[in-house]
Amino acid sequence: MRVGIVGAGKVGISLAFTLKQKGFSVTCISSRSADSLERAKAYLGQDVSLTERNEETVERADVIGITTQDTYIRDVAEGLAQRFQSLSGKIFFHTSGAHSSSLLAPLKERGASVGSLHPLQTFPDVDAAIRGMRKAYVFVEGDEEARGVLLKLGKNLGKRVYEIEGEKKILYHLSAVLVCNLLCAILYSAERILEEIDLPLEPFFPLIETTLSNVKRKGALPSLTGPIVRGDTKTVELHIEALKGKALEREVYRTLSLVALEMAKQRCSIDEERIEEMRELLR
Ligand SMILES: NC(=O)c1ccc[n+]([C@@H]2O[C@H](COP(=O)([O-])OP(=O)(O)OC[C@H]3O[C@@H](n4cnc5c(N)ncnc54)[C@H](OP(=O)(O)O)[C@@H]3O)[C@@H](O)[C@H]2O)c1
Repeated sequence: MRVGIVGAGKVGISLAFTLKQKGFSVTCISSRSADSLERAKAYLGQDVSLTERNEETVERADVIGITTQDTYIRDVAEGLAQRFQSLSGKIFFHTSGAHSSSLLAPLKERGASVGSLHPLQTFPDVDAAIRGMRKAYVFVEGDEEARGVLLKLGKNLGKRVYEIEGEKKILYHLSAVLVCNLLCAILYSAERILEEIDLPLEPFFPLIETTLSNVKRKGALPSLTGPIVRGDTKTVELHIEALKGKALEREVYRTLSLVALEMAKQRCSIDEERIEEMRELLR
Protein backbone atom coordinates (compact mmCIF):
# COMPACT_ATOMS: atom_id res chain seq x y z
CA MET A 1 0.00 0.00 0.00
CA ARG A 2 1.52 3.35 -1.08
CA VAL A 3 0.46 6.31 1.07
CA GLY A 4 0.37 9.92 -0.15
CA ILE A 5 -0.46 13.14 1.68
CA VAL A 6 -2.07 16.32 0.33
CA GLY A 7 -1.33 19.23 2.72
CA ALA A 8 2.08 19.45 4.40
CA GLY A 9 0.85 20.92 7.68
CA LYS A 10 1.10 19.71 11.26
CA VAL A 11 -1.20 16.70 10.81
CA GLY A 12 0.03 15.82 7.30
CA ILE A 13 3.72 15.75 8.21
CA SER A 14 3.24 13.97 11.55
CA LEU A 15 0.97 11.38 9.93
CA ALA A 16 3.48 10.72 7.13
CA PHE A 17 6.38 10.62 9.63
CA THR A 18 4.62 8.13 11.96
CA LEU A 19 3.45 5.85 9.15
CA LYS A 20 6.93 5.86 7.64
CA GLN A 21 8.39 4.90 11.02
CA LYS A 22 5.89 2.05 11.23
CA GLY A 23 7.14 0.68 7.91
CA PHE A 24 4.45 2.01 5.55
CA SER A 25 5.54 3.14 2.12
CA VAL A 26 4.93 6.91 2.12
CA THR A 27 5.62 7.94 -1.46
CA CYS A 28 4.59 11.56 -1.94
CA ILE A 29 3.46 14.72 -0.16
CA SER A 30 2.05 17.80 -1.88
CA SER A 31 1.36 21.30 -0.61
CA ARG A 32 0.86 24.80 -1.97
CA SER A 33 3.93 26.50 -0.57
CA ALA A 34 7.62 25.74 -0.96
CA ASP A 35 8.14 26.52 2.75
CA SER A 36 5.73 23.79 3.83
CA LEU A 37 7.40 21.31 1.47
CA GLU A 38 10.84 22.25 2.83
CA ARG A 39 9.61 21.63 6.35
CA ALA A 40 8.19 18.25 5.27
CA LYS A 41 11.55 17.30 3.76
CA ALA A 42 13.27 17.93 7.10
CA TYR A 43 11.01 15.29 8.72
CA LEU A 44 10.52 12.82 5.86
CA GLY A 45 13.92 12.77 4.14
CA GLN A 46 14.84 12.32 0.49
CA ASP A 47 12.84 9.19 -0.33
CA VAL A 48 9.43 10.90 -0.16
CA SER A 49 8.62 12.95 -3.28
CA LEU A 50 7.65 16.57 -2.65
CA THR A 51 5.44 18.43 -5.10
CA GLU A 52 3.16 21.42 -5.46
CA ARG A 53 0.89 19.29 -7.71
CA ASN A 54 -1.74 17.36 -5.76
CA GLU A 55 -2.38 15.19 -8.86
CA GLU A 56 1.14 13.82 -8.53
CA THR A 57 0.36 12.59 -5.02
CA VAL A 58 -2.70 10.81 -6.38
CA GLU A 59 -0.67 9.24 -9.20
CA ARG A 60 2.04 8.02 -6.83
CA ALA A 61 -0.19 6.61 -4.06
CA ASP A 62 -3.06 4.17 -3.47
CA VAL A 63 -4.21 5.68 -0.17
CA ILE A 64 -4.31 9.48 -0.09
CA GLY A 65 -4.82 11.57 3.05
CA ILE A 66 -6.18 15.09 2.49
CA THR A 67 -4.77 16.96 5.49
CA THR A 68 -5.52 20.54 4.45
CA GLN A 69 -7.47 22.91 6.70
CA ASP A 70 -11.17 21.87 6.84
CA THR A 71 -12.14 24.82 4.59
CA TYR A 72 -10.14 23.48 1.64
CA ILE A 73 -10.97 19.75 1.79
CA ARG A 74 -13.99 20.03 -0.51
CA ASP A 75 -12.09 22.25 -3.01
CA VAL A 76 -9.19 19.80 -3.12
CA ALA A 77 -11.61 16.90 -3.64
CA GLU A 78 -13.40 18.76 -6.46
CA GLY A 79 -10.11 19.79 -8.06
CA LEU A 80 -8.81 16.22 -8.10
CA ALA A 81 -12.13 14.82 -9.35
CA GLN A 82 -11.91 17.20 -12.33
CA ARG A 83 -8.42 15.99 -13.23
CA PHE A 84 -9.04 12.21 -13.18
CA GLN A 85 -11.59 10.35 -15.31
CA SER A 86 -11.50 7.35 -12.98
CA LEU A 87 -10.20 7.02 -9.46
CA SER A 88 -11.28 3.45 -8.98
CA GLY A 89 -8.84 1.53 -6.77
CA LYS A 90 -7.82 4.69 -4.90
CA ILE A 91 -8.76 5.35 -1.27
CA PHE A 92 -9.06 8.93 -0.04
CA PHE A 93 -9.50 10.13 3.52
CA HIS A 94 -9.48 13.48 5.30
CA THR A 95 -8.49 14.18 8.92
CA SER A 96 -11.15 16.68 9.98
CA GLY A 97 -12.86 15.86 13.28
CA ALA A 98 -16.06 17.76 12.51
CA HIS A 99 -16.87 16.53 9.01
CA SER A 100 -17.79 13.13 7.66
CA SER A 101 -16.38 11.54 4.53
CA SER A 102 -19.34 12.99 2.57
CA LEU A 103 -17.01 15.98 1.96
CA LEU A 104 -15.16 13.67 -0.43
CA ALA A 105 -18.27 12.87 -2.54
CA PRO A 106 -16.72 14.22 -5.78
CA LEU A 107 -13.95 11.61 -5.48
CA LYS A 108 -16.44 8.84 -4.74
CA GLU A 109 -18.33 9.79 -7.90
CA ARG A 110 -15.12 9.00 -9.81
CA GLY A 111 -15.01 5.51 -8.30
CA ALA A 112 -12.73 6.09 -5.30
CA SER A 113 -13.37 4.77 -1.79
CA VAL A 114 -13.63 7.51 0.82
CA GLY A 115 -13.38 7.87 4.59
CA SER A 116 -12.15 10.07 7.39
CA LEU A 117 -9.53 9.41 10.06
CA HIS A 118 -9.34 11.75 13.03
CA PRO A 119 -6.63 11.53 15.66
CA LEU A 120 -8.33 12.82 18.83
CA GLN A 121 -5.36 14.90 19.89
CA THR A 122 -4.12 18.49 19.88
CA PHE A 123 -1.27 19.33 17.52
CA PRO A 124 0.08 22.86 18.07
CA ASP A 125 3.26 22.11 16.06
CA VAL A 126 4.82 19.20 14.14
CA ASP A 127 7.07 17.94 16.98
CA ALA A 128 4.18 17.99 19.45
CA ALA A 129 2.05 16.24 16.81
CA ILE A 130 4.59 13.44 16.41
CA ARG A 131 4.81 12.97 20.20
CA GLY A 132 1.04 13.26 20.70
CA MET A 133 -0.01 10.99 17.82
CA ARG A 134 1.06 7.75 19.50
CA LYS A 135 -1.02 8.54 22.61
CA ALA A 136 -4.13 9.45 20.60
CA TYR A 137 -7.37 7.55 20.20
CA VAL A 138 -8.12 7.54 16.48
CA PHE A 139 -11.69 7.66 15.10
CA VAL A 140 -12.45 6.44 11.60
CA GLU A 141 -15.51 6.22 9.35
CA GLY A 142 -16.23 5.80 5.67
CA ASP A 143 -17.29 3.21 3.12
CA GLU A 144 -16.43 -0.44 3.72
CA GLU A 145 -13.20 -0.53 1.76
CA ALA A 146 -11.92 2.74 3.21
CA ARG A 147 -12.81 1.67 6.75
CA GLY A 148 -10.75 -1.50 6.43
CA VAL A 149 -7.65 0.47 5.43
CA LEU A 150 -8.24 3.32 7.92
CA LEU A 151 -8.62 0.90 10.82
CA LYS A 152 -5.19 -0.47 9.91
CA LEU A 153 -3.65 3.01 9.62
CA GLY A 154 -5.32 4.16 12.86
CA LYS A 155 -3.98 1.16 14.77
CA ASN A 156 -0.47 2.02 13.64
CA LEU A 157 -0.79 5.74 14.29
CA GLY A 158 -2.28 5.96 17.76
CA LYS A 159 -3.06 4.12 20.97
CA ARG A 160 -6.47 2.74 19.96
CA VAL A 161 -8.77 3.01 17.00
CA TYR A 162 -12.56 3.36 17.08
CA GLU A 163 -15.23 3.47 14.42
CA ILE A 164 -17.72 6.36 14.48
CA GLU A 165 -20.77 7.12 12.32
CA GLY A 166 -20.34 10.14 10.05
CA GLU A 167 -23.41 11.95 11.37
CA LYS A 168 -22.15 11.67 14.96
CA LYS A 169 -18.92 13.49 14.19
CA ILE A 170 -20.19 17.00 14.85
CA LEU A 171 -21.17 16.22 18.47
CA TYR A 172 -17.96 14.24 18.90
CA HIS A 173 -15.90 17.17 17.61
CA LEU A 174 -17.67 19.85 19.64
CA SER A 175 -16.94 17.76 22.74
CA ALA A 176 -13.28 17.75 21.72
CA VAL A 177 -13.45 21.54 21.37
CA LEU A 178 -14.97 21.85 24.86
CA VAL A 179 -12.31 19.72 26.58
CA CYS A 180 -9.34 21.04 24.62
CA ASN A 181 -9.71 24.41 22.88
CA LEU A 182 -12.15 25.90 25.38
CA LEU A 183 -10.14 24.54 28.29
CA CYS A 184 -7.27 26.64 26.87
CA ALA A 185 -9.65 29.61 26.75
CA ILE A 186 -10.55 29.09 30.42
CA LEU A 187 -6.87 28.84 31.38
CA TYR A 188 -6.14 31.99 29.38
CA SER A 189 -8.94 33.81 31.23
CA ALA A 190 -7.40 32.80 34.57
CA GLU A 191 -3.96 33.85 33.32
CA ARG A 192 -5.28 37.34 32.46
CA ILE A 193 -6.96 37.73 35.83
CA LEU A 194 -3.81 36.55 37.63
CA GLU A 195 -1.71 39.13 35.75
CA GLU A 196 -3.50 41.80 37.79
CA ILE A 197 -2.08 40.40 41.02
CA ASP A 198 1.32 39.51 39.49
CA LEU A 199 0.89 35.78 39.79
CA PRO A 200 1.73 33.27 37.04
CA LEU A 201 -0.44 30.25 36.19
CA GLU A 202 2.33 27.86 37.22
CA PRO A 203 1.28 27.32 40.91
CA PHE A 204 -2.15 26.30 39.60
CA PHE A 205 -0.78 23.35 37.58
CA PRO A 206 -1.02 20.77 40.42
CA LEU A 207 -4.64 21.87 40.91
CA ILE A 208 -5.36 21.46 37.19
CA GLU A 209 -3.59 18.10 37.01
CA THR A 210 -5.31 16.70 40.11
CA THR A 211 -8.70 17.81 38.77
CA LEU A 212 -8.04 15.99 35.50
CA SER A 213 -6.82 12.90 37.29
CA ASN A 214 -9.95 12.88 39.51
CA VAL A 215 -12.18 13.20 36.44
CA LYS A 216 -10.26 10.38 34.77
CA ARG A 217 -10.64 8.17 37.86
CA LYS A 218 -14.27 8.80 38.79
CA GLY A 219 -15.94 11.10 36.24
CA ALA A 220 -16.73 14.84 36.13
CA LEU A 221 -19.83 14.91 38.36
CA PRO A 222 -18.29 13.50 41.56
CA SER A 223 -15.05 15.46 40.98
CA LEU A 224 -16.69 18.88 41.27
CA THR A 225 -15.65 20.80 44.39
CA GLY A 226 -15.81 24.51 45.28
CA PRO A 227 -18.28 27.18 46.42
CA ILE A 228 -21.18 26.22 44.14
CA VAL A 229 -21.41 22.58 45.08
CA ARG A 230 -20.91 23.61 48.74
CA GLY A 231 -23.60 26.30 48.51
CA ASP A 232 -21.30 29.18 49.55
CA THR A 233 -23.41 31.94 48.03
CA LYS A 234 -21.43 34.81 49.56
CA THR A 235 -18.17 33.62 47.98
CA VAL A 236 -19.81 33.43 44.55
CA GLU A 237 -21.19 36.94 45.08
CA LEU A 238 -17.68 38.23 45.85
CA HIS A 239 -16.31 36.53 42.71
CA ILE A 240 -18.92 38.22 40.52
CA GLU A 241 -18.19 41.59 42.12
CA ALA A 242 -14.45 41.10 41.53
CA LEU A 243 -15.19 40.55 37.83
CA LYS A 244 -16.72 44.01 37.39
CA GLY A 245 -15.22 45.64 34.31
CA LYS A 246 -14.27 42.24 32.84
CA ALA A 247 -17.40 41.53 30.85
CA LEU A 248 -16.07 38.50 28.95
CA GLU A 249 -14.57 36.71 31.98
CA ARG A 250 -17.72 37.50 33.98
CA GLU A 251 -19.85 35.89 31.28
CA VAL A 252 -17.62 32.78 31.22
CA TYR A 253 -17.74 32.56 35.03
CA ARG A 254 -21.50 32.94 35.12
CA THR A 255 -22.28 30.47 32.33
CA LEU A 256 -19.97 27.74 33.62
CA SER A 257 -21.21 28.32 37.16
CA LEU A 258 -24.75 27.63 35.94
CA VAL A 259 -23.49 24.27 34.62
CA ALA A 260 -21.83 23.62 38.01
CA LEU A 261 -25.14 24.49 39.67
CA GLU A 262 -26.88 21.84 37.56
CA MET A 263 -24.23 19.39 38.78
CA ALA A 264 -24.83 20.42 42.41
CA LYS A 265 -28.54 19.81 41.85
CA GLN A 266 -27.86 16.34 40.49
CA ARG A 267 -25.59 15.59 43.43
CA CYS A 268 -28.25 16.90 45.87
CA SER A 269 -25.39 18.70 47.63
CA ILE A 270 -27.48 21.83 48.39
CA ASP A 271 -31.19 22.34 49.03
CA GLU A 272 -33.70 23.84 46.55
CA GLU A 273 -33.77 27.21 48.31
CA ARG A 274 -29.98 27.60 48.08
CA ILE A 275 -30.05 26.51 44.43
CA GLU A 276 -32.60 29.24 43.61
CA GLU A 277 -30.60 31.85 45.54
CA MET A 278 -27.46 30.87 43.63
CA ARG A 279 -29.30 30.84 40.27
CA GLU A 280 -30.66 34.34 40.92
CA LEU A 281 -27.13 35.55 41.68
CA LEU A 282 -25.73 34.01 38.51
CA ARG A 283 -28.44 35.39 36.19
N1 LIG B 1 -4.05 20.68 14.59
C1 LIG B 1 -4.80 19.85 15.29
O1 LIG B 1 -4.77 19.88 16.52
C2 LIG B 1 -5.65 18.82 14.58
C3 LIG B 1 -5.97 17.64 15.26
C4 LIG B 1 -6.71 16.66 14.61
C5 LIG B 1 -7.17 16.88 13.30
N2 LIG B 1 -6.88 18.06 12.68
C6 LIG B 1 -7.38 18.23 11.30
O2 LIG B 1 -6.31 17.97 10.40
C7 LIG B 1 -6.42 18.84 9.24
C8 LIG B 1 -5.15 19.65 9.12
O3 LIG B 1 -4.94 20.43 10.27
P1 LIG B 1 -3.51 21.06 10.59
O4 LIG B 1 -3.60 21.58 11.98
O5 LIG B 1 -2.43 20.12 10.20
O6 LIG B 1 -3.53 22.30 9.59
P2 LIG B 1 -2.28 23.13 9.04
O7 LIG B 1 -1.08 22.95 9.92
O8 LIG B 1 -2.76 24.50 8.79
O9 LIG B 1 -1.92 22.41 7.68
C9 LIG B 1 -2.74 22.41 6.56
C10 LIG B 1 -1.84 22.42 5.34
O10 LIG B 1 -2.64 22.19 4.18
C11 LIG B 1 -2.00 22.83 3.10
N3 LIG B 1 -2.96 23.16 2.05
C12 LIG B 1 -4.00 24.02 2.10
N4 LIG B 1 -4.65 24.03 0.92
C13 LIG B 1 -4.01 23.16 0.12
C14 LIG B 1 -4.21 22.74 -1.23
N5 LIG B 1 -5.20 23.23 -1.99
N6 LIG B 1 -3.37 21.82 -1.73
C15 LIG B 1 -2.36 21.32 -0.99
N7 LIG B 1 -2.12 21.68 0.29
C16 LIG B 1 -2.93 22.60 0.83
C17 LIG B 1 -1.38 24.09 3.68
O11 LIG B 1 -0.23 24.18 2.91
P3 LIG B 1 0.61 25.46 2.54
O12 LIG B 1 1.30 25.84 3.82
O13 LIG B 1 1.50 24.88 1.53
O14 LIG B 1 -0.34 26.50 2.04
C18 LIG B 1 -1.10 23.72 5.15
O15 LIG B 1 0.26 23.50 5.38
C19 LIG B 1 -7.69 19.66 9.46
O16 LIG B 1 -8.75 19.03 8.81
C20 LIG B 1 -7.88 19.63 10.97
O17 LIG B 1 -9.24 19.78 11.35
C21 LIG B 1 -6.11 19.02 13.28
